[in-house]
Amino acid sequence: MNSNSLVSIDDISREEILDLIERARFFEEHPNHKILDGKVVATLFFEPSTRTRLSFETAVNRLGGRVIGFSDAATSSSSKGESLKDTIKMVSNYVDLIIMRHFLEGAARYATEVTDTPIINAGDGANQHPSQTMLDLYSISKTQGRLEDLTITMVGDLKYGRTVHSLLMAMRYFNPTFHFVACDTLRMPKEYRDFCDANGIRYTEHTDFSPEVIADTDILYMTRVQRERFTDIMEYESVKNLYTLHNDMLECSKPNLRVLHPLPRVNEIDRDVDDNPKAYYFDQARNGLYARQAIICKALGIDIYKEAAK
Ligand code: CP
Repeated sequence: MNSNSLVSIDDISREEILDLIERARFFEEHPNHKILDGKVVATLFFEPSTRTRLSFETAVNRLGGRVIGFSDAATSSSSKGESLKDTIKMVSNYVDLIIMRHFLEGAARYATEVTDTPIINAGDGANQHPSQTMLDLYSISKTQGRLEDLTITMVGDLKYGRTVHSLLMAMRYFNPTFHFVACDTLRMPKEYRDFCDANGIRYTEHTDFSPEVIADTDILYMTRVQRERFTDIMEYESVKNLYTLHNDMLECSKPNLRVLHPLPRVNEIDRDVDDNPKAYYFDQARNGLYARQAIICKALGIDIYKEAAK
């Protein structure tokens, strides 16, 4: 395994998280340094994506590298039965870095075991989405001026939502308090509640998306109910619209509250929230470009400050 791989947010320390945030800040000020000249990066997306793939590819392009890959596995030889192992070994012959999204939990970890090329996990099933977490942390840091001592309310699909799982784990370094708002079907899984207990993280669980919870919140992290994870479509239909944020629900919220959402959204944030200055989800997606530039350079072992000074 290449030690520069990023498979789980658990792979990186507090210091590395803070360093990546500083580097994201650097790239926000200098997004077009040609420091990937001569590098080729693969984006292998076995699951659909808009933001993650396009922001990773934009990140490479703005830094002067080249991108190969596929956005639809049906156009790759996996549709002919080629194994993930063989696909990864083949692509490793061509590139310096592989960024991959796969529907199977653990797929990115498995990929690191069959190649020495660094791997960035762009989402594996309901498991982890560490680059999303880095842009979330960067967004939180930018909007709150700190990462420590914040109250974060996570709403919606806490069972299958890989973004909330990764964010919860990363926040263990920063003394958070969580409110988990979900129906019983989509409750935060036991392993993550156990993780909170083991790391001294305070949390409360709610089935009601109440004004009291919103009033106590610094970061309101809304999530989509993920139809693609359900085996029973009737179960999805019964829970898909349980929690919707409307603009008037923010009236008694703290001045510093910001609404985050990894996107895409369906019905969980009403369009009437979009013009509220507390709506931050589109800015959050833009931050993904800078966070991913930082992640790519770290994975390639590039000293951005030295390179930028040339
Ligand atoms: N947030 C996120 O992962 O979006 P995409 O599925 O569009 O990449």
